[in-house]
Parts: sequence; structure tokens; C-alpha cells
Amino acid sequence: MNSDVQIAGDPLAVPHLLPPVPAHPATVAGFAGLARSIAADRASWAPLVRFDATTRWYHRLRRGPGYEVWLLSWVPGQGSGRHDHGPSSGVLTVLEGELTEHGPGRTRTLAAGVQQVFAPGYVHEVVNDALAPAVSLHVYFPGLTEMPMHGGSHSARCAAPARETAAP
Ligand SMILES: [Fe+2]
Repeated sequence: MNSDVQIAGDPLAVPHLLPPVPAHPATVAGFAGLARSIAADRASWAPLVRFDATTRWYHRLRRGPGYEVWLLSWVPGQGSGRHDHGPSSGVLTVLEGELTEHGPGRTRTLAAGVQQVFAPGYVHEVVNDALAPAVSLHVYFPGLTEMPMHGGSHSARCAAPARETAAP
């Protein structure tokens, strides 16, 4: 017990009373918090967003020691295909619109403000099934070095019998 300790004078003037605030996050909660703070600072990302009907648009917003932050846009119908993120963990945060995630054994709707944390090797497919464009923020730690595709997207799997019928 140190209940006998008393601080005389201004406690805030005592150096090293509190640990320094880290300049960069290092925990899952820290990365999720970073994403929330960027999401709230709309002026820092909204003017950068582009929508490209021919290919999914992405832009690296920030890079720090051991992590990267990417901004992505999705016009209706655009999707990622089934993929994992190699050795990276990540935090996906929807900034605008709505995305649909097909994960292992489940489908989720990710509305603006929703955050999803995923572990290395997690396989999913993200699609904009809505009628409006969507914007998302992706923090990867460590930075994304590979994004292996797993083939057979959810939509392709659903359409597989028709495709087989149509195949020569
Ligand atoms: Fe992903």
C-alpha cells in the first residue's frame, strides 16, 4: 500500500507521473482506436476518396511502424473476392455506406461505424451489395504484404450450377 504517499504542489507538474502517450498504436484496441479517430476526422479522408467503376479504388492513407492504413471505395456491385491477409491482422471500419461480408459460415452486414477485427489467415469476401457507394478504412498490422486469393467467390459459388450448365 502506498496510501501514505502525498504529492505536494501541482501533481501535473511532476514529471513521469503518467506514462507517455504512444505516438503509434501497438495493440488491437489501439489500432481500432486509431481507425475510429480517423473515421471521426472526416476532413482527413473524404476529399481523397475516388470512385472507380472499372476497378476497386484504394489509397494508402498512413503508414507507421508495423502498420498501414488504407482507404477503399466500393461502387455498388464491387467486391474483393475471397481472400486472406497473409500474416497481417486487421481492423476494417466502414466509413460510409454499407458492405456485406461473407465470412466462414456466416454473412454479415457492416454498416457505417461498424468495426471488425480479423486475425492472420482469416478468409472472407467483402462486397457492396447495396445501391449506394461505400467507403471503408483498413488498418493492417503488420502492413499488408500479401493478399492470397482463394477463388470461388460467394457469388460465383452461388452461381456455380448455372455456370457449369453454360460451360462448353
Ligand atoms: Fe479483407
